[in-house]
Amino acid sequence: ALERTLSIVKPDAVEKNHTGAIIARLEQEGFIVRAMKRVHLTRAEAEGFYAEHRGRGFFDELCAFMSRSPIVIMALEREDAIAKYREVIGATNPANAAEGTIRKLYAASVGENAVHGSDKPESAAREIAYFFAGYEVSPRA
Ligand code: CMP
Repeated sequence: ALERTLSIVKPDAVEKNHTGAIIARLEQEGFIVRAMKRVHLTRAEAEGFYAEHRGRGFFDELCAFMSRSPIVIMALEREDAIAKYREVIGATNPANAAEGTIRKLYAASVGENAVHGSDKPESAAREIAYFFAGYEVSPRA
C-alpha cells in the first residue's frame, strides 16, 4: 500500500554534512519528500517525540543526543514506505547493519545512528503529526 514514514537525519549525520547524500539515496530508492524541515529540538521536544521510550536506560542519552544540534525531518511517501525505509537504513545498531545501508555507511554507534524511521503505520501517523501541521505535508504530488 502507499504509505508514509517519518524520517529524521539525526545530529551526528547533519554535523558530518551527510544530509544531502542521505536524501539523495532515499530519492533514488523511490521515496517522495512530502514535507521537510531543519530544526534544533529542545530537550523537551525530543522527550515528547520519544515518549514511548521514557523509563528505558538509554532515554536520557537519546534525548540529549537528539537535542544537541539540528536535525532534518521529512515525511516520505512510497509504496510500502515503512518496511522499505527500514530496509534501506539497516539495523538500529550499525554494527549489525547490512552492507550498503545508510547506517552502515554513515552511523557510528547504536546511539548515534544517523537516521530514524517509523516502525509501523500508527507510529508514522503520530510522528508526522508531532512535527508537521497538515498544510506542511503537501496534499498533492
Ligand atoms: P530510533 O529509531 O531513533 O528510535 C529509538 C532510538 O533509541 C534508536 O533509534 C536508537 O538510536 C536509540 N537506542 C536504542 N538502543 C539504544 C542503546 N542501547 N543506547 C543508546 N541508544 C539506543
